[in-house]
Amino acid sequence: MAEGSVLVVGGTAGLGREVAAHYRGAGHPVIVTGRDADRASAVAAEIGDGVTGIGFDLSKPHTIAAALADVGPVSRLVLAAISRDNNPLREYKIDEAIELTTMKLVGYPETIHTLIDRLSDDSSVLLFGGRAKDRPYPGSTTVTTVNGGISSLINTLVTELAPIRFNAIHPGITGDSPFWAGKPLDHVVARTPTGRLVTMTDVVDATVFLLENPAMNGENLYVDGGWMLM
Ligand SMILES: NC(=O)c1ccc[n+]([C@@H]2O[C@H](COP(=O)([O-])OP(=O)(O)OC[C@H]3O[C@@H](n4cnc5c(N)ncnc54)[C@H](OP(=O)(O)O)[C@@H]3O)[C@@H](O)[C@H]2O)c1
Repeated sequence: MAEGSVLVVGGTAGLGREVAAHYRGAGHPVIVTGRDADRASAVAAEIGDGVTGIGFDLSKPHTIAAALADVGPVSRLVLAAISRDNNPLREYKIDEAIELTTMKLVGYPETIHTLIDRLSDDSSVLLFGGRAKDRPYPGSTTVTTVNGGISSLINTLVTELAPIRFNAIHPGITGDSPFWAGKPLDHVVARTPTGRLVTMTDVVDATVFLLENPAMNGENLYVDGGWMLM
């Protein structure tokens, strides 16, 4: 594996935190980020020794470069952060739409731009999209749009920044993730051919595959149990 840290943007919670814990367990130095530096440091300490925390807000992309100034070489970069924007078009809230759109479609590429000289030819990058891009739900306009954008964003990343590898992962509703845990999801199971919800373990496994397999590049991987087929 390339020299450097595994940096997980949005690593203080949910799927990003699970990915961070996996790489720490495998013995790699890990950095997790969230909006608040103190919270990020506290979560880093919970994950374990060798994990550090950084705070910056992806929806304020002009602040990203300064926040990452002290980061050294990066071997794996995971862009997992999200703030959920429930935004039905009949009550459209512009500020919330701008926040999430900026986070994923400007903040993610600005993070890559900032770190480009700290990535090496053997580094790889994974961007989180999501199946809401293909299966919308009421109020999902911004989520659907930005996750669709992620699936195209990897095309320019791959071609402009070769040989660094870039892939995107699009999980289905992940039943044991903090956002969904405890919510009624029988309707999702009913439409999933595997008859079960996607788990965080499933998503971490696919994340590691995309980050580590040297032939995986420019792919959008769907981790959804075949949800779109029913
Ligand atoms: N969970 C699912 O079922 C599911 C399904 C499909 C796709 N996904 C995708 O998977 C990724 C992870 O989802 P999740 O549900 O695991 O997330 P989550 O539990 O809601 O965690 C979100 C993370 O993003 C960070 N964050 C939020 N707003 C931020 C901002 N403005 N700037 C920087 N960081 C910010 C949070 O940190 P702080 O709170 O510490 O600031 C936290 O670390 C997302 O990209 C999502 O679209 C998830």
